[in-house]
Amino acid sequence: MTLKSDALGWGSLAKLFHWSVVILLLVQGVLGLVMVELPKRPNVIPVFNFHKSLGLTILLLALLRLGWRLLDRHPQPPPGMPRWQVHGANAGHALLYGLLFAVPITGWAFDSATSLRPLFWWGLVQMPNLTGGASQTLKPIFQAAHEWLFFALVLVAAGHAAVALVHHFVNRDDVLRRMLPGRRAPSRSPTES
Ligand code: HEM
Ligand code: HEM
Repeated sequence: MTLKSDALGWGSLAKLFHWSVVILLLVQGVLGLVMVELPKRPNVIPVFNFHKSLGLTILLLALLRLGWRLLDRHPQPPPGMPRWQVHGANAGHALLYGLLFAVPITGWAFDSATSLRPLFWWGLVQMPNLTGGASQTLKPIFQAAHEWLFFALVLVAAGHAAVALVHHFVNRDDVLRRMLPGRRAPSRSPTES
């Protein structure tokens, strides 16, 4: 198991960040959609608090992940992949990173504009208010942004997953395999990449 990525494959830390964020996003997205349908009674407060803390955890993981991405090497595109596809993949990944930040930040900003209760991360760390207190003007803007950016993330992530499957089943290259846990790309000479 190699922690760092190289020209042929993703390291275990990059894989861990990728798949833990995918799983947490799934849980968080379903939780968000179910949570807003619950009758507004005091017993839903812990559910909302859980959603907020998990969302802030995803934001932290996204930050750590991007930091590691900037420090770590990253695998080369498969040999012979056209330039427009390489640019497309880079743009798609940049968009995914952008949405990964924008969704939790707009949720946090919505919570700040609502200012019903102070925001605590897992009951431990009090988070700053992003809007400088309650704001009836900003509240609906961030509420809609949180919801729509989430749907945009679902759409882009679905497209991204479909492209990964096309790489695997149609192009038959190692793009998907090298992101899967516990596997390393089949040996290929580094000069090929
Ligand atoms: C990546 C992380 C997050 C995801 C995927 C996510 C997803 C969602 C989804 C799908 C909804 C339901 C939207 C709707 O249909 O109206 C929602 C609602 C909500 N989220 Fe998040 N969320 C995230 C992070 C956060 C964070 C960090 C906070 C606050 C600190 C937050 C606060 C809220 C609140 C308060 C609502 C209820 C909105 C309403 O009452 O209409 N979310 N979230
Ligand atoms: C919410 C879901 C997802 C998000 C937010 C996401 C995000 C990302 C990002 C940002 C990268 C670029 C890595 C980097 O340069 O740091 C990436 C790479 C990758 N993702 Fe995802 N991903 C998601 C789901 C999936 C799924 C479901 C699959 C598989 C079906 C998948 C397969 C891959 C593969 C194979 C790569 C490596 C591409 C390469 O080597 O160039 N991802 N993902």
